[in-house]
Amino acid sequence: MIAQNWKCAECGFIAIGLFPPDSCPKCQAPRSSFETEHDWCFPREETDAVISACWKVTYGLYMVSSIDGEKINGQICNTLFQITSDPPRLAIGINHNNLTHEYIEKSGVFAASILGTEDMRIVRRFGYRSGRDFDKFKGVPILRRRTLCPIYEKAIGYIECSVIEDKTVDAGTHSIFLGEIVGGERFKDEEPMTYSYYYEKKSEQG
Ligand SMILES: Cc1cc2nc3c(=O)[nH]c(=O)nc-3n(C[C@H](O)[C@H](O)[C@H](O)COP(=O)(O)O)c2cc1C
Repeated sequence: MIAQNWKCAECGFIAIGLFPPDSCPKCQAPRSSFETEHDWCFPREETDAVISACWKVTYGLYMVSSIDGEKINGQICNTLFQITSDPPRLAIGINHNNLTHEYIEKSGVFAASILGTEDMRIVRRFGYRSGRDFDKFKGVPILRRRTLCPIYEKAIGYIECSVIEDKTVDAGTHSIFLGEIVGGERFKDEEPMTYSYYYEKKSEQG
């Protein structure tokens, strides 16, 4: 449940909360006078300010992969974070329409290859077109470990997970998969790619 904007039909007062107030603090109209204005919890005119703040949220960049029997696929993902360390768990946000989503749902496993600043090409290859249209892994060197999900061999490292049953959250356009970490390695000690580094380099390269 998230807070909503509740607008008083009598005087226009906006109350923010999970539920409308008992009565309007401005004109004392009853609760029944309140209607939700829209799904977002902030006024429309603040949209630019909110979005520009959201751009300052920091992320890494990963190639998240999964399997469906013999088939493999992967995509770029910035919405990944280690949510707990004991037990070690990761959360990822994956769009419902992605082929990778389909594979994760079916197999219950995924791997995240941690990309370095040299991996612009991998982002371009895995981040813009679906594996439904071409074989993204053709010519890309991979390793397989415990989950059998493909891992980019030249990545900084990888973490692989088993999806925790009944803990997937439907976040609207995306699912949030919570994964129990079942393996991981660091191959080299380089700086990982960040979301902002990628977009900075991308705009320089045109
Ligand atoms: C920089 C960048 C970050 C991305 N982050 C995410 C993400 O966090 N979650 C997501 O579902 N898609 C994300 N995408 C989009 C997917 O990588 C893209 O839709 C991909 O083509 C899906 O491929 P698939 O259908 O083969 O799984 C990102 C793309 C880029 C370029």
